[in-house]
Amino acid sequence: MAGQFQAPKGVPDYFPPRSNSFLAVQNAIGHAATLAGYGYVELPVFEDVNLFVRGIGESTDVVSKEMYVFEDRGGRTLALRPEGTAGVARLVIEHGLDKGQLPVKLWYQGPFFRAERPQQGRYRQLQQVGIEAIGAPDPALDVEVISVADDAFRSLGLRNFNLMLTSLGCANCRPEYKEKLIAYLEKLDLDGETKTRAKLNPLRVLDDKRPEVQKLLDKAPLMINELCDACANYHREVEDLLEVTDVKFTPAPKLVRGLDYYTRTTFEFDHPGLGAQSGIGGGGRYDGLMSSLGGNDLSGIGFGIGTDRTLMACEAENLIVGEKSLIDVFIVPIGDRAHQLAVSLLQQIRAANLRADMAYGDRGLKGAMKAADKSGAQLAVVIGDEEVSNSRVQIKNLGDSSQVQVALGDMVAHLIQVIRQTEQS
Ligand code: HAM
Repeated sequence: MAGQFQAPKGVPDYFPPRSNSFLAVQNAIGHAATLAGYGYVELPVFEDVNLFVRGIGESTDVVSKEMYVFEDRGGRTLALRPEGTAGVARLVIEHGLDKGQLPVKLWYQGPFFRAERPQQGRYRQLQQVGIEAIGAPDPALDVEVISVADDAFRSLGLRNFNLMLTSLGCANCRPEYKEKLIAYLEKLDLDGETKTRAKLNPLRVLDDKRPEVQKLLDKAPLMINELCDACANYHREVEDLLEVTDVKFTPAPKLVRGLDYYTRTTFEFDHPGLGAQSGIGGGGRYDGLMSSLGGNDLSGIGFGIGTDRTLMACEAENLIVGEKSLIDVFIVPIGDRAHQLAVSLLQQIRAANLRADMAYGDRGLKGAMKAADKSGAQLAVVIGDEEVSNSRVQIKNLGDSSQVQVALGDMVAHLIQVIRQTEQS
């Protein structure tokens, strides 16, 4: 019978066994960040709405259409965080982290909220793992950020993803380019809605997926060809360093991001196995963000990887990510005395760092053995009255059904030996 309540529209639940894989994806990305020296930050899930309006840009869809905005009991207007970069910049400024060693390198993970139209891979509560490196305008740092994402995907076994890369210029060259693009777009025969978009956010038009629009954009001026010398040199260095580190990329001169803070290096990772929502991660430089939020005029670069979509990408490539089973050892106690003993044995086994569970409730031998099989455990510890009396237990290998009897005092050592042996084989 279906219950009375369902999760809100567009909000995925994760539960075992898939939640194991979800955690493994999250951990793999966090691990890649840790290997590169990024420190963990726990960000607020809601912030002053103006942080996002100022940081991300008023005309973006994320801010103008997709934010969950609410008033708290003290009359403050807050928003559920739609992304993490603005929050990290706020945290760095508020706590003066930018006054220490630069770059400040931080990573974060958790849910973000966007009131988008839900569909496969597009959620209203989406999960990201992100990194931000603030305070060093160095192409090597751009390459580090991109490599951390690439390493994270590869460590999960992913192979079929593409990195799309471009430069969005800077405060010197972009305004001039924008004028050029607007002039070009004004001459085109575009529908009303697209015309409005061309005025509000002309770069977004380049991203239009309709083939008839793309045809019209054939000769549109591209930012990558209009970069100032400083931006062009910077981009060349990024590309050269990527070649050195053997991170493959595709130049994507029409790449447009949904957030306004980007400057210079901008990138997206795509996975062809995901259908329409193919972006598994994206990021770039944001050299004006810190100062626009009242901080020092420091550059920054980072990425946000979509945990939900990266998991889907692993599934599309048939990768087994994370532990298949939750349990190593399952105790099957038969009778009251065995039940009591099982409770203390569980503690001993877990103290030895093995994952252990037992048959709870009064199930009888058959039911309890069935539970042991279902648990996915490799070993079952079977205890009856007789075993309790002579301080012995039966250890059954649930894979090949072989069984040995061991003294209670040797049980933990035996379990460890068998499990470690299988792990190594
Ligand atoms: P973003 O491209 O908006 O960038 O999001 C990053 C990733 O989050 C996307 O590539 C996608 O995998 C995932 N994502 C976004 N929206 C959804 C959704 N509705 N459902 C499922 N997954 C989604 C940012 O958020 C920037 N803060 C990244 C960044 C960090 N740039 C610089 N530093």
